[in-house]
Amino acid sequence: MAAPDGMFITFEGIDGSGKSTQARLLADRIPDAVLTREPGGSPGAEEIRALLLTGDPARWSAETEILLFTAARRDHLEKTIRPALLAGRTVICDRFADSTRIYQGATRGDLRAAVDRLHDLMIGQEPDLTFIIDMDPVLALERGLARRSGEDRFEEMGLAFQETLRHGFLHLAHDHPERCVVIAGQRPPEEIAAEIAAQVAARMEPV
Ligand code: ADP
Ligand code: TYD
Repeated sequence: MAAPDGMFITFEGIDGSGKSTQARLLADRIPDAVLTREPGGSPGAEEIRALLLTGDPARWSAETEILLFTAARRDHLEKTIRPALLAGRTVICDRFADSTRIYQGATRGDLRAAVDRLHDLMIGQEPDLTFIIDMDPVLALERGLARRSGEDRFEEMGLAFQETLRHGFLHLAHDHPERCVVIAGQRPPEEIAAEIAAQVAARMEPV
C-alpha cells in the first residue's frame, strides 16, 4: 500500500479536557478535513463503542478492553482513516492509540507491553501530530460529568484515576516529542484553538 498523503492529527487527554471541542474547532479551519473519534468513527466501531462505554465500570477486564478498543480501531482505520489519508485529506481524530496506551496500558495492571505489541500487530499507524490537552482533573471531571452523556463508564472511575491518566499523558508527550504537543487546557476555547491552528500551520508549511 502506498504511504498515506494526508496529515493525521489526534487529540488526547483526560476526560472533559476539551478534546472534542478543539477537534471540532480545528476541523472548521481546515477545508476538506475528516473529523472522527474513538472509540468509534466507522459503523462497526460505533457498535463496539456502545459495548465499551455503557454499563457497569467493572464490566470488562483491562485485557478484554484492550482487545475491544483495538478491534474498533482496526475497523476505523480500514474504513475511515486510511481511505481519507490516501485521498490526501487531513484526518482529525478525537482520541486514538495513545488513549489505549494510557487508559488500559498504564493504569490497570502492567499491560503497556501488551498494548504496544497488539498495536504493532494490528494497527501500525501513528499520528503525524498529537495534541495532549492538559488540565486539572478536578475541573475536567466537573465539565465532563456536567454533560451526563450516558457514556460515563470511565469518568465514574473517579479523580485518582484521572490524576494517574494526566501524568501518563504527560510522560507520553515527553517520550514522543517528535509528534506530541502539550496544550494548556484551562483557557478560553478560542485561545486554545488559535495555538493549535498555529502548530498545525507550522507543520503543514515548514519554513
Ligand atoms: P472532552 O472531549 O475532552 O471530554 P469536551 O470538548 O467535550 O471535552 O468538553 C467538555 C465540556 O467542557 C463541554 O461541556 C465543553 O463545552 C466544555 N469546554 C470545552 N472546552 C472548554 C474550555 N476551554 N473552557 C471551558 N469549558 C470548556
Ligand atoms: P470519549 O468519548 O473521548 O470521552 P471523553 O469525551 O469523556 O474524553 O472516550 C470515551 C472513554 O473511553 C474515555 O473515558 C476514554 C476511554 N478510552 C479508553 O479507555 N481507551 C481507548 O483506547 C479509547 C479510545 C478511549
